[in-house]
Amino acid sequence: MDQPLASPPESSEPGCVLVTGGAGYIGSHAVKHLLSRGKRVVILDDLSGGHREAVERLRALAPDRLTFIEGPVNNRGLIEGALRDHDVKAVLHFAALIAVGESVRLPLKYYRTNVAGTLVLLEAMRSAGTPALVYSSTAAVYADPPEARPLRESDALGPISPYGASKAAAERLIADFARAQAAQGRPFAHAVLRYFNVAGADRAGLLGEHHEPETHLVPLLLRAAQGSGGPITIFGDDYPSPPTPDGTPVRDYVHVDDLAEAHLRVLDALKPGDARTYNVGGGQGHSVKQVLASVERVLGKPVPTHLGPRREGDSAYLVADPSRLRNDLGWAPPASNLDEIVHTAWSWMQAHPRGYSKVKSRAKAF
Ligand code: UFG
Repeated sequence: MDQPLASPPESSEPGCVLVTGGAGYIGSHAVKHLLSRGKRVVILDDLSGGHREAVERLRALAPDRLTFIEGPVNNRGLIEGALRDHDVKAVLHFAALIAVGESVRLPLKYYRTNVAGTLVLLEAMRSAGTPALVYSSTAAVYADPPEARPLRESDALGPISPYGASKAAAERLIADFARAQAAQGRPFAHAVLRYFNVAGADRAGLLGEHHEPETHLVPLLLRAAQGSGGPITIFGDDYPSPPTPDGTPVRDYVHVDDLAEAHLRVLDALKPGDARTYNVGGGQGHSVKQVLASVERVLGKPVPTHLGPRREGDSAYLVADPSRLRNDLGWAPPASNLDEIVHTAWSWMQAHPRGYSKVKSRAKAF
């Protein structure tokens, strides 16, 4: 496990970053990157999807620079207090519900957390005068383009699921708020990052992916290989070819550490009043069968699968055009190295076959 990080370098900026959802999969990786750059961090997480153990592991890296507040993202008083007490200069807003299927059954829950949660966060930021936000969005906000090609940020939005619609609504809310703030002479900088398919685990082995229930392809394939999840269903192999190479859907897989790095680069580049939107993907697609082949190659054993019908709402082809990020920041995530993604996820799973432990504590903050 990692050793504690050194004290912040002399050059590290004052001020602090609030990370909502910082105990979750992507948020925790971003916190690790922030801490390793010498930043002070406050995590706000209600642990509905995040893990106390992830916070404890992060805290061991930099006990003096990490504060954890257990609570929901739609508690305005709690957020405002955190922003003021810790002199927060920017917010990374990860806290959200993410299961597409569940969002179809429980849309109100999704709009409450993802839209109302963002609204309350913005109200708190306005009151506290916090000037910058990086928002976790998703490729699920896009409409299927008429022909399969990498998606650009300027492409039409047209989310299919309540999940995608809630993220698109929050994007719009943030943009409207920023415009109004600018008109009042109070510039509010924001960046919307539209993630493609995030996978893998901390390259140093401290953090990993643990969702309950798990719905994502890579961890499900690994569980099936491990014998803990039963055979995995491949949701349809009758998609058109092209664009798919083999009839199974194509996605752009991004290593979670590269996605975390994207947040830091964007945060560093944000200037007062900026309004930026970026795809975060490597620009290369892999089909479900190609991911399966990668898992079998890395693990050196077959993964039990069976073929099922298509999953409702799945697109045939979702790949990022990452050129805006590359042009603006001189950097974009590397094109997916599937084997490396799988290798890091597998290492973490082998070391943590049941994921994070379920540490329950009454402490609300430490
Ligand atoms: N798949 C299977 N079997 C499974 C699980 C997944 O065949 O048991 C297939 C899906 O049909 C899809 C691919 O694997 O073709 C990837 O599926 P995931 O569920 O891992 O990811 P999605 O592409 O559905 O969605 C993910 C995030 C969304 C985000 C989207 C953007 O979960 O939040 O990427 O591309 F919006």
